[in-house]
Order: sequence, then C-alpha cells, then structure tokens
Amino acid sequence: MAKTKFICTACGFESGKWYGKCPSCSNWNTFDEVEVVDTKRLSKLSSLVNGQVKIEKAIDIKTFSKTRITSGFEEFDRVLGGGIVPGSVVLLSGDPGIGKSTILLQIALNISGSRPVSSSYPSVSTLERGKMHNDKSLKKGENQSLRTVFYITGEESSGQVKTRIDRIIHHDLLIKRELFVISETDIDRIIAILLKEKPDFIIVDSIQAMQTSNAPGFPGSIPQIRNTCMYLVSYAKNTNIPVFLIGHVTKEGIVAGPMLLSHMVDTVLYLEGEKFSGTRILRAYKNRFGNSEEVGIFMMEEKGLVQIKDASNFFIDKKEEPVPGSCTAVIMEGSRPLLIEIQALVVPSTLSFPRRVCAGFPEKRLELLLAVLQKHLRIPIDKMDVFLNVVGGFKIIETSSDLAACLAIVSSFKNKPLPGGAAISEVGLLGELRNVINLEKRISEARKFGYKNILTIRNHKTLNEVVRDVL
Ligand code: TYD
Ligand code: MG
Repeated sequence: MAKTKFICTACGFESGKWYGKCPSCSNWNTFDEVEVVDTKRLSKLSSLVNGQVKIEKAIDIKTFSKTRITSGFEEFDRVLGGGIVPGSVVLLSGDPGIGKSTILLQIALNISGSRPVSSSYPSVSTLERGKMHNDKSLKKGENQSLRTVFYITGEESSGQVKTRIDRIIHHDLLIKRELFVISETDIDRIIAILLKEKPDFIIVDSIQAMQTSNAPGFPGSIPQIRNTCMYLVSYAKNTNIPVFLIGHVTKEGIVAGPMLLSHMVDTVLYLEGEKFSGTRILRAYKNRFGNSEEVGIFMMEEKGLVQIKDASNFFIDKKEEPVPGSCTAVIMEGSRPLLIEIQALVVPSTLSFPRRVCAGFPEKRLELLLAVLQKHLRIPIDKMDVFLNVVGGFKIIETSSDLAACLAIVSSFKNKPLPGGAAISEVGLLGELRNVINLEKRISEARKFGYKNILTIRNHKTLNEVVRDVL
C-alpha cells in the first residue's frame, strides 16, 4: 500500500496525521492526503526538461551576461540590471488592477517585434529555429526572424487579452509581431507545448492560476504554486529561455504565501502606485542579476504604461507665481534623486482633536514635526487642522523631506508663499537641521531644475533660522 502524508493546502504544512485545524496557519479543513513518494511524475517531467546530469568544468561554462534582451523600456531594463537575462525567471507582483498584465503585454509586444542578434543570443530556440519551421507547428507569418513570444493566460480569455492588445497597439503594427496567446492553466500541457515550440520569451499570467495534477490543493494554494513554479524555473534554466511570472499580492501584502515564490525565482519586481493617480513605480526587491535598489517610473495612460525618464521634470509643476503651502523636496528613488512637491493646508479647527490628514507622508512623522513647530516656532498648531499631500502619488519614507513639509505647513499657516526654493533636511526634536544621505546628489538634481535657493544644513542650522530667512 502506498505511504501517505497530509498537507495543508493553505500553507504547505506537512504532517503524518490529519488535522481539522492546521497547527501552522490555523485554517480549518485544509488537509489533503497525498502519496509520500510522488516523485515518479516529477522525475518524468524533470527528465523531460533536464536530460542527463551535466558535469561542466568551471572554465568552460558559458555565461550570458552580455546577451541581455531589452524589454523595450529603458526604465524596466534598468530595474532588471540592464535587460532580461536569458534563462532568468522574473516574478512581477503588485495589487490587482495596478497594471501587471498591461506592462508585460507591452513588453511581449516589444520583444515579439524585435530580432535576436544571432551571435549574441545562443538560446536553444535560435539554434533550433530551422527545425521549428520545418515542423510547421506554428502558423508563422513572414516575420520569421523575429522573436516569438508566448503569453500564457490563465486568468483572462484570449479574447480579453486581444481587447487589451487592441488598446495598446494598432492593428497594422500587430501584424509585425510574433506574439502568441495561449489560454491554458494546466502546467504539464503548457510545458509540453513550450518544449515543442521553443518560443524566445514566455509570460505566465498568473502563477496563481496555474495548476498541476501532481500536487494537492486548488490553483493558488501553496503546494500548487510551489510545483508549477518549480516546473517553470526548471524549464527556464534548462532551455535558457527567460520566463516572466505574474504573482498577485494577497490581502496580507505578501506574494502567494510566505514569500514562497521569491526564493525560487531570480528576480522579484513590484509594481506599485495609487490606483487613482497614474504614477506607477517599479521596484526590484530581489535581483540576482543587478542592483535591487533601482526603480523605474511609469504613467498609466490610455494606451498602456508610458515610461517617465525625466521624472523630476514630470512631477514638479513649476508655478509662475509661488503659492502658499507648497515646497519642493528631493527624495531618493533607488539611486536616483527625484524632485517632488509637498503641499500643506492649515486651517483653524473647530474640533477638540484637530485633524491631521496625510497622503504619501508618514502620519507619525507629521505629528512629530507639528510638535516641533509648536514648541520651537510657537505656532498654535494644536488649534489647527493640518492636511499634507505628496504630489504624484509618491510615498515618502525617509526623513529628508522633513524640512520641506515644515516649510509647506508654516507657509500655509502664514498664508505666505515660499520664494521658489527646495528644502532638503531632516528636522530633529530640538528644531535643528540634520544631515541626510546623498545630499550632494540631491542638491545637484535641484540645481539641474533651476532651483537656486536650496535650503540645507549647509546654509542653516535650525528650522527657526530657515523660517526667519524665507517666510
Ligand atoms: P491590469 O494590467 O489588468 O492590472 P493587473 O494585471 O495588475 O491586475 O490593469 C488594469 C487597469 O489598467 C485598468 O483599471 C485599466 C487600466 N488601463 C489603462 O488605463 N490603460 C490601458 O491602456 C490599459 C490596457 C489598462
Ligand atoms: Mg492581470
């Protein structure tokens, strides 16, 4: 008789006996009985992908570092560390509706319209391309030397994907793309198709929709995600074909279980932004092939996402006449400085607990800065409602915008505009200005955009001094 064990389909906890309530994640009725040695099918699949075990002498191993493929977006390539590495597996995550499917479809369109540089892209698909055409397994157009891209959709029908494509690209241009849409969720069948057709680039939307008969649970459960992801990773590594996966963020803000996928893939990217502002920020949380500090900035528009290369210029709306309640701060997004506007509105309050409302600024930090203003500038802020907004949907997490926030607040309180300046400094509890990292970089970015009067610790020692000088 086959030996069995029990697995929680919600968290992956394994046990020799059945539980009604999982001792690990406390979910009820999540235990499935599975055979212990389920490696039969696994080894069949992996031998299909792997062939034989290879022993390679270190000196002879080929690296593909110079053969990165461009996604067609400079902003995206930079976050990846200079383009897509052949054989890499990239997980793109983010809230529902943020634009994951849109951006990957745009990349699919870009890549499927590009030609491989034959000598620098020694992927299996290029080597065996001749064979593929003889098979006549794909109905290919005249664009035979273009890269083929497979967009595997498990969430939307191919009709829905086509509607999105029509929104992004004109029909005449789509003719010149080798983009194929596969509406399928069974990973075994998908791998079989991929092994047969050998596309140059693969997108799976989404990993939570994929399923395999080789693991317990329903699609999206931990054992299913673990297994389907493992097959795709193994496929990518063995064929040297890059695979992009879309992964949803669950309510708890984690990617499909306890960061399970992030250990299995090479790169984890997050697409972030407020849904109702168009700004989208792409961040790398893990990157085996580059700096995980980099960010890319995009705008969601009518025809998909548009990259914003000159972000500082984009988010600062230069006013002809300075208005009260506005100050420019310089934040760091990855290794790049970025100019943003902080707006404040201060009005007398009728409440016993005046309102403090912020968008994009940490609430606790605002409370602290208000206390500093009250104590050291003697502003009766305890009788005022304060609203603070960071323009463009950015979220400030660093303290370098303290001074800009204080100045925007004081400027609104006094109803006096700041004479066109930028402010870069942390503010301490004693009302003193404090140094921030990358000060030089931030100052030169502000200079680049025409700011002459840049308020920092280099020209003022305390918040009081700054306010006396400029307001
Ligand atoms: P989508 O890519 O479906 O998000 P995700 O895959 O992360 O769930 O993005 C859906 C949103 O993007 C939807 O609200 C409509 C908007 N959108 C545009 O504004 N412009 C476009 O060109 C497209 C395709 C979508
Ligand atoms: Mg989607």
